[in-house]
Amino acid sequence: MTEKERLIIFDTTLRDGEQSPGATMDGDEKMRIARALERMRVDVIEAGFAAASRGDFEAVKAIAETVRESTICSLARARQPDIDAAGDALAGAASGRIHTFIATSPIHMQHKLRMEPDQVIEAAVEAVRHARNRIDDVEFSCEDAGRSEMDFLCRIIEQAIEAGARTINIPDTVGYAIPEQFGAMIGELRERIPNSDKAVFSVHCHNDLGLAVANSLAAVTHGARQVECTLNGLGERAGNAALEEVVMAVRTRRDAFPVDTGIETREIVPASKQVSTITGFPVQPNKAIVGANAFAHESGIHQDGVLKHRETYEIMSAEEVGWHTNRMVLGKHSGRAAFRSRMEELGVQFASDEEMKDAFQRFKSLADKKHEVFDEDLQALITDARKATERDHYRLLELDISAHTGEIPRCRVVLSVEGESHQAEATGAGPVDATLRAIEEIAQSHAELKLYSVNAITAGTDSQGEVTVRLEKGGRIVNGHGADLDIITASAKAYLDALNHFVSGPSRSHPQAADV
Ligand code: KIV
Ligand code: ZN
Repeated sequence: MTEKERLIIFDTTLRDGEQSPGATMDGDEKMRIARALERMRVDVIEAGFAAASRGDFEAVKAIAETVRESTICSLARARQPDIDAAGDALAGAASGRIHTFIATSPIHMQHKLRMEPDQVIEAAVEAVRHARNRIDDVEFSCEDAGRSEMDFLCRIIEQAIEAGARTINIPDTVGYAIPEQFGAMIGELRERIPNSDKAVFSVHCHNDLGLAVANSLAAVTHGARQVECTLNGLGERAGNAALEEVVMAVRTRRDAFPVDTGIETREIVPASKQVSTITGFPVQPNKAIVGANAFAHESGIHQDGVLKHRETYEIMSAEEVGWHTNRMVLGKHSGRAAFRSRMEELGVQFASDEEMKDAFQRFKSLADKKHEVFDEDLQALITDARKATERDHYRLLELDISAHTGEIPRCRVVLSVEGESHQAEATGAGPVDATLRAIEEIAQSHAELKLYSVNAITAGTDSQGEVTVRLEKGGRIVNGHGADLDIITASAKAYLDALNHFVSGPSRSHPQAADV
């Protein structure tokens, strides 16, 4: 068998993924995902956009100082303050990368940047040079390359490589490309640019036409050796190429691709679940690789075939991507040391003894009711514990539900609002509706409910329900999450979490809003 070349997996769940409306994560949540990506042996983790806000800077810095096995990258627009913020945040990294970019399509240069093409080249070269003064590993991206002119791309890329970029990324920013053309474009760039052999060619495809993975794979066939992707395909608008699909396509179709990745595929499903729990973006059941039905054989004919010989209907094994690894990790007799150690393995560090004590108490009360506590339960427990703090504007104190067949459901809630207790009652179409109405009686947010979803965290009717609520007000979108064995309580927690985000939400700049 011929030796496979390495396909570098660049994960941008924490940057582009976080740009999905409502997918904002706090520093602690980002750290847990970064640790899961490291366990999966992702080559490069784009940890954020350090210049966006103080919180983003701190998150990139903490990840750079903690994760040692993957390269940590920060995005930076092609301007000095962004590059300096990225360089500073990455100072403690074992291996760091600055990813700088500028738009190169006529429509972006004219209407967004309001710059002439030569000025764009000058800004790109200056940015790459400045980044190289801060760090050895520099990536340059031509934003909206999918709609850029080939001659212009050749000019700017040649000069970016000359200035020191080691990786050249070709994003299909608006998801406009189709596989044959996109693949050919990568091939042509590599052929026409005289110094193309001095850089790794990378692609970053968005999924607006549902072609992100197909476009990425076509590019690999034409010589791209880095793919930028996200877990569960999270990302701006319709998302990015899904990491799990790219990785399993090249692994399963070894006959068709000259590359393989270094990904530990058994970590894919646990990491996917973690991203879903933290962001509150559920994974559709029929989603390839990580959807609940991806390996379920419903029809008798299929089941019979799989039992006789697995390969009749399965091209990969569920175990290979980390399904069926649900282990009962802890039970009600587990002690503090076992709890702390499992949490550490999941990437959770307790800031204080107080926090550890509180989390352990929550675990004990869950284990009393549920008996078998899985990793997914622990993830939800810690997310929940960290969301509901004494400092929250709104806190749930009491919830009283009455729901009898043939009667209108009624809810009474008691909330703490800035430390003061408030009570309200409401009726609704169902118990959840009554609960959210009662909360709204007190909060008077008048926010519009954009999404309400419930997911079972694990199998069985004793599973915790995980609720996601998305609210919009004045153009701002926030997500709230809550988990509980009782889905009405989980719904109340999720709604209050979203309201608290309105109160405390950080203001941060979007990397693609304006470049220079
Ligand atoms: O989609 C895009 O163009 C991006 C760049 C910033 C790489 O996310
Ligand atoms: Zn993108």
